[in-house]
Amino acid sequence: MFVHINDKQFEAKPGERLIDVARKNHAHIGYFCGANGICQTCYVKVLEGMHLLSPLDDREKAMLSDRLIDEGIRVACLTTLEKLGTVKLLTTVEEVKRMVEKKPQEIIPYQAKMGWESLVKFPETIAMQAQRFSTGKLETWQLVTDIAGAVAGALELVVMAVQGSLGWGKKTKAFTREYVPAATDGNESTKEHPDKKKAEKKTSPEIDTSLKQHKHAPVN
Ligand code: FES
Repeated sequence: MFVHINDKQFEAKPGERLIDVARKNHAHIGYFCGANGICQTCYVKVLEGMHLLSPLDDREKAMLSDRLIDEGIRVACLTTLEKLGTVKLLTTVEEVKRMVEKKPQEIIPYQAKMGWESLVKFPETIAMQAQRFSTGKLETWQLVTDIAGAVAGALELVVMAVQGSLGWGKKTKAFTREYVPAATDGNESTKEHPDKKKAEKKTSPEIDTSLKQHKHAPVN
């Protein structure tokens, strides 16, 4: 099956989480909490194929207001591909990026809306997360390591951006890591990335470990 994320097409399989499809294909998506269903930065708008996805579970219902649900918003780390077909998504971070570039006047109303909708659900969200901790469904060490991995990616994003702005053509070894170019360029430009072929051939053990952690991240 195919998943289009921010107008780029990727292959995927039923059973995969939307966040995992996005990350392995270097799509522009937020994942500050390491895909543990906490940070709310991995929101995506489902433009097509909602019926192919797992139904909203209690955790998503605790995080998403009725308005956001009506608009087709899903939490990518809590949503799984269930049926074959084509799914089209727009990540909220990409939506904001495009807004800044093309319609900056819409940013403030957009942020106000998202802030309000989060506020409306805040008590429910906190109660849900508290229950996860108290029942041991959110494993602390796993959470810490997942967040550390997400922060490391964000830091590399900054360094990569600085390198690009300075016109440094040669990347350090760290930037040949498989997922870094897209996670760092913010515009999914992996096809054009000069180190892409090397990155595909030289997948480092460090990245394998990182991806493994996310694969087994708690999702209940
Ligand atoms: S809620 Fe943080 S990555 Fe999904």
